[in-house]
Amino acid sequence: PVRPVLPADILARKGGTPLVVLTAYTTPMARIVDAHCDVALVGDSLGMVLHGLPSTIGVTMEMMILHGRAVVRGCQKSMPVIDMPFGSYEEGPQQAYRNAARLMAETGAPAVKLEGGTHMAETIAFLTKRGVPVMAHIGLTPQSVNTLGGYKVVGRDGEAEKVMADAEAVAAAGAFAVVLEKVPEGLAARITQALAIPTIGIGAGVRCDGQVLVVDDMLGLFTDFRPKFVKRYAELGRTADEAIAAYAADVRARAFPAPEHAFADVLPPKGTKN
Ligand code: KIV
Ligand code: NA
Repeated sequence: PVRPVLPADILARKGGTPLVVLTAYTTPMARIVDAHCDVALVGDSLGMVLHGLPSTIGVTMEMMILHGRAVVRGCQKSMPVIDMPFGSYEEGPQQAYRNAARLMAETGAPAVKLEGGTHMAETIAFLTKRGVPVMAHIGLTPQSVNTLGGYKVVGRDGEAEKVMADAEAVAAAGAFAVVLEKVPEGLAARITQALAIPTIGIGAGVRCDGQVLVVDDMLGLFTDFRPKFVKRYAELGRTADEAIAAYAADVRARAFPAPEHAFADVLPPKGTKN
């Protein structure tokens, strides 16, 4: 049996072969991600990608647990990480611990991710000292879209040192890795050099210790908007659209089902299919 990846293994990959991370929300996609990636992230992006919410604000613990369980079932060798949803950890360390423990206990995932830098350091330290491995997420933190005023690049000009301080704070607090979202590439490289924990970039340039994308974005399945940092590796949305159009036309023309998809009224002779 393959030994699954654990947070300490991810930490040990600092400076080595880049860590490969994708989101996954379901068992079948988790199986594909698991075959090729180090981490399968159950991102709260599932609110927008799967459930049609306008942002990640409306994502609940119940949604994360349901999808988390599905993804954990599909992971054999990669490490599932579950996002803590908006409102489940920001009040303080105790609330964060209660909900992180629930996410881990009810899904079987060995780690959680939460958004925030310096102001979340106390909570990250509280969790990591009590058996909850934490992946931090700084730079653009989508749960704060309403206070940030949009999904803009974070860390240009005078803002750079604040993002550096956030990175240093989450690392000192015990996070085993940190996601850098929509951070200028030079700053992301500087943070990567300064920290002893791996940085995982999304829109943060190539000089991070790893990369993450939303799997539905890179497969062309989620096309409501297209951030500059997404590379489309497939156009599955278009493929699905063409397939469903063909099916609808076939049904309307009585071209589907064909005889081979139907069941004969009389049992066929032994050795033949159907
Ligand atoms: O929710 C998510 O998918 C994420 C990744 C983009 C890092 O947080
Ligand atoms: Na997220």
